[in-house]
Amino acid sequence: MSAEPLEIYLEEQDLGRSLRDDVRTGLTARPKWLPPKWFYDARGSELFEEITRLPEYYPTRAERSVLQRRAGEIAELTGAKTLIELGSGSSEKTRLLLDAFTRRGGLGTFVPLDVSVSALRQSTAQIATDYPGLRVRGIVGDFTRHLDRLPTGGRRLVIFLGGTIGNLLPAERAGFLAAMRASLEPGDWLLIGTDLVKDPSIVVPAYDDAAGVTAEFNRNVLRVVNRELGADFDPEAFAHVALWDPEREWIEMRLRAERPVRARVLDLDVEFAAGEELRTEVSAKFRPEGIAAELVAAGFTAREFWTDADGLFGVTLARAA
Ligand code: AVJ
Repeated sequence: MSAEPLEIYLEEQDLGRSLRDDVRTGLTARPKWLPPKWFYDARGSELFEEITRLPEYYPTRAERSVLQRRAGEIAELTGAKTLIELGSGSSEKTRLLLDAFTRRGGLGTFVPLDVSVSALRQSTAQIATDYPGLRVRGIVGDFTRHLDRLPTGGRRLVIFLGGTIGNLLPAERAGFLAAMRASLEPGDWLLIGTDLVKDPSIVVPAYDDAAGVTAEFNRNVLRVVNRELGADFDPEAFAHVALWDPEREWIEMRLRAERPVRARVLDLDVEFAAGEELRTEVSAKFRPEGIAAELVAAGFTAREFWTDADGLFGVTLARAA
């Protein structure tokens, strides 16, 4: 079957409006910040794909190895009829699950949801071609806002891979899990990938690679703001910073103004002192007990917890209680 037309819950106008709101809130705050979802225009999505292939960036490989080993078990245990993927991007690792479900039979529909139209167009077309028996319904949406639009009925498995849940702040994360649970029926499944707490000498280089791809990815948010809102940031005036916060057990990506920077954005005059930093992303790392506790607090039962052979990355299979 060819992919169905994308269902668009985020129009250009909403995207524009929420970008303007976020820019106004974040760039007038102290310290300044921007949410990470604005990295992912076409160029940002490509840079992210490039990051996943870097030698330093272990999460993608580690998660893939878990899925390689456990896909059959996940298909058997869940017996899902509908597979929903949040923040699907290229859906590259998802193919391991689609392959397992194809061998097992019974999966009818795949529903990838992402904010990036370009990533979704590509992934839905390719998956529809490669899995001819599967109905593919791409949704352009924001997983923090559009969980009530997910298809209902039949046993569902929602997957949220890559450690993307770590990009939410703790309060947002609790809100997300509660909303996730509210949109599921008892017995539906949730598969969640989480990067695990480990020595900063492994984590930090994953967010500050030698080739500078992550630095370009980080600066890309300023290019998005320039293009979408007609701002005039000089991205080259900012240095990429990746910092491990040992208390909160997360990586923060920041952009540090290398000299005083002024930019005109919307109706704002935004000023950075030399050395001032803009926080662009938090990427939380988890402990197994923490993941289970957060799932239980949101109304899930944690059923399985798997890691790769090196214990770098965790994949949890939970069930709506
Ligand atoms: C989107 C969650 C997979 O936080 O590791 C990669 C994004 N940021 N390098 C992460 C990211 C910098 C990434 N995920």
